[in-house]
Amino acid sequence: MRLKARFAGPLQGRARPPGDKSISHRALILGALAHGQTEVEGLLEAEDVLCTAQAVRQFGAQAEKLENGRWRVIGAGGFSQPSDTIDCGNSGTAARLLMGAASGYKLSARFDGDQSLRKRPMNRVVAPLSQMGARFDSTENRLPLIVHGGKLKGVTYRSPVSSAQVKSAVLLAGLQAEGETVLIEPERSRDHTERMLGVFGAEIDTVEIDGGLHPRVHQSQLRGANIYVPADPSSAAFPIAAALILGKSEVRVEDVLVNPLRLGFYETLLEMGAKLTYEERRDPIGEPIADIIAQSSKLNGASPPPKRAPAMIDEFPILSIVAAFAQGETRIVGAAELRVKESDRITLMVDGLRACGVDAEELPDGLIVRGNGPKSVRGGAQIRTLGDHRVAMSFLVLGMASKEPVVVDEAEMIATSFPDFIGCMQKLGADISEV
Ligand code: S3P
Repeated sequence: MRLKARFAGPLQGRARPPGDKSISHRALILGALAHGQTEVEGLLEAEDVLCTAQAVRQFGAQAEKLENGRWRVIGAGGFSQPSDTIDCGNSGTAARLLMGAASGYKLSARFDGDQSLRKRPMNRVVAPLSQMGARFDSTENRLPLIVHGGKLKGVTYRSPVSSAQVKSAVLLAGLQAEGETVLIEPERSRDHTERMLGVFGAEIDTVEIDGGLHPRVHQSQLRGANIYVPADPSSAAFPIAAALILGKSEVRVEDVLVNPLRLGFYETLLEMGAKLTYEERRDPIGEPIADIIAQSSKLNGASPPPKRAPAMIDEFPILSIVAAFAQGETRIVGAAELRVKESDRITLMVDGLRACGVDAEELPDGLIVRGNGPKSVRGGAQIRTLGDHRVAMSFLVLGMASKEPVVVDEAEMIATSFPDFIGCMQKLGADISEV
């Protein structure tokens, strides 16, 4: 499917983006590992998460939709032998977290995914899980691969990358491991697994090593819990970015997860001069929530510090679009992880920006965008997305504010994370249509 976005004036109104993807995956997986019933409200019903729902059923849990966003999971207190391949679709989170969870049980599970996921590195979880005692059959540590789970021993693992997927895989395996399991990462990544493990009754705390606090789990039996899923800040980023770069706009994006480890994009926007405010802050569920109000703003380029990268890892594509409408240079470094996401997001974003008449340059671990202010971007390009949902949504936002319309290909992939993206943006005043 190809989608076209064209300029249609300011954005106004309210939006409630769909549930947070990271929390949705975790609610299903922890619910499946637990004894008893878990009720989830606000689950993201997008393809990535539906892969996890199907997977946990294959591992022996019941997972059923009660009504929109409301799901019930009945866990069997652990995973059992699946009879078929676990298809993770496009989702790295599904693949890596489920591999970690499965490693602690006496089973052999074959994992596979789509063309994009088959290219993504799995050695980052295969290495620590092997140290713990799991065995893998794979070619070059890519999908498809087979996990042979069993008796595990705890480890203190120093991950070379700051990745919540790696951290979560190790901690979930640690629930079944003898002794304690500690995960050390260069910079802290999102901590939803740690927070939610506490809610499910796991024995989890932090330990100080080399002056930093790192999560530690002990063998634990989880108990079912009730989970509320706030709106995904990574999806909220699109209407907020569009409102900032389109003159006379003001949007209120409601019920957004504002966990500090997810807010790097918003911090960077504030440094660029964005008019952003957080209202009605609340914390009913062990995760902070707020409404975010964004108004059109005069923006300057910014250079987010590399240590902030994990807190905005999924937002670099949309940040590079915002940078094109700012005045001056935006330099993104320390973001080599972007090359192993759903696509190589550095190359794709630079190619697309250049095709839209923007001065952009590729770096080994990031990119430079030289913006020329709000009305400077030509657009008028057909963008190749290689099936990357966030690249597609990012260039549609560019097309909403550029002089000429922008077309993106493989737009059906937006359904992996934000199924009602078009509806949400149209409600605010955007002109996005199928071509
Ligand atoms: C996620 C972690 C991040 C992020 C992904 C979701 C998670 O990946 O990019 O969209 O839910 O744990 P990495 O762990 O590879 O950084």
